[in-house]
Amino acid sequence: MLKIININKTIKSFKKKISVSSDKSLSIRWALLAAQAVGKSRAYNLLNSEDVNSALIALKKLGVEVTKNKKYCEINGKGLNSFLYNNNTVINCQNSGTLSRLICGVLAKSTKSVILKGDQSLSKRDFSRIIRPLNLFGIKTKSKKNKLPLKITGTNFLRPIEYDELIGSAQVKSCLLFCALNTPGITKIRAVPSRDHTERLFKFLKLPIKIKREKKFDIIKIKGDNQYNGFNYKIPGDISSSAFFIVLTLLSKNSKLLIKNINVNKSRTGIIDILKKMNADIKLINKKMYNGEYVADILVKSGKSLKSINCAREMNSRTIDEFLLIFLTCAKSKGISYFNHIGELRHKESDRLKFASNFLKMIGIKVKETSNSLKIYGNPKLKLNGNYKIKNYNKDHRACMMSCVAALVLGGRWKIYDSDSINTSFPQFFSKLKSLGAKIN
Ligand code: S3P
Repeated sequence: MLKIININKTIKSFKKKISVSSDKSLSIRWALLAAQAVGKSRAYNLLNSEDVNSALIALKKLGVEVTKNKKYCEINGKGLNSFLYNNNTVINCQNSGTLSRLICGVLAKSTKSVILKGDQSLSKRDFSRIIRPLNLFGIKTKSKKNKLPLKITGTNFLRPIEYDELIGSAQVKSCLLFCALNTPGITKIRAVPSRDHTERLFKFLKLPIKIKREKKFDIIKIKGDNQYNGFNYKIPGDISSSAFFIVLTLLSKNSKLLIKNINVNKSRTGIIDILKKMNADIKLINKKMYNGEYVADILVKSGKSLKSINCAREMNSRTIDEFLLIFLTCAKSKGISYFNHIGELRHKESDRLKFASNFLKMIGIKVKETSNSLKIYGNPKLKLNGNYKIKNYNKDHRACMMSCVAALVLGGRWKIYDSDSINTSFPQFFSKLKSLGAKIN
């Protein structure tokens, strides 16, 4: 595939039905859980992307049997802490924050050291958020300035902890949950709510987990050292990937799109609630429960005039990966939009707050950016006619895909570099755009 994408034409009106790539969070969690189960597990519709492949390669390095065919991926687990590998094995997590955080919990009891590495973007990210609790469990870590490479050495003497997870990070919470899975006794986590796929999977596996929802926190208790058996799982579509097509439809003329079979877990649907509040026409239909997760089809129609939003803080973790798209929508909406307490966006695959404010300024939108807020002065009449380049953005897959959506709805002549970054989460992104009539080359 070409690394530079050229978009010189806006997309014409479309009325279609599509599917998008499978859920990345669930795919990685399934693989890590299957590797610790006893017996064979199969995943149907496992996401075929670089992040998930990094997880499968990591497990193979730990001696886990992983096979794949056209229909499913199969992992033959040998149980908790059953890995066979040499001391100081190097695992390259490439671009995957989720893999790099969650695998530390999987290795909690493995006394042979593992050295975790990542690509340029992951190597800039902060690991202090997991290093602190890992050390409390008794796991040894070694790194420079809390960045990758991170050497991690598990222990046979894990102790259960009580921990306050105050960032609202599902990666941190899930790292703790995976540690707790390997730790005898009861681990208690008081967490600012974030995506709860790991908790749902634990429930699906009938592991002893209890969750109490309080006003601002989830209180999670888990009794560890409980073995479970292999399990089959079907992965629905990823709402974060569908989000590009939701916004593309909303900002296109006279268009309608049905996106099939998407995981609409409430901890992920902030984008839908925010866009609806902005007056967007979006409906969830055919809602059903599948393997402990809600799945639905998303029906989006363009045509309604969109208005600005003052985004409530509670929406932040439910929308964390979709903010770039929300900001783009605000740029094309009437009024001034406000986003507060969004400093976490600076800790993603790129500094997404900086990227967003530079991007919006580049397309002629007035913004005010502080260390953890953004104010956007919308312009519903916004149309572009110049030359635009998206370059040096840390190869952030979501920044790349949002830029393509912007190019397709705003006009102008765009060159988007490093477009292979989409392979992290959504390798068919360009072919799906083309299936709606987008002209890209
Ligand atoms: C993820 C959690 C989020 C999200 C990431 C995937 C997960 O990160 O941004 O893309 O699968 O747990 P944080 O939990 O650090 O916010």
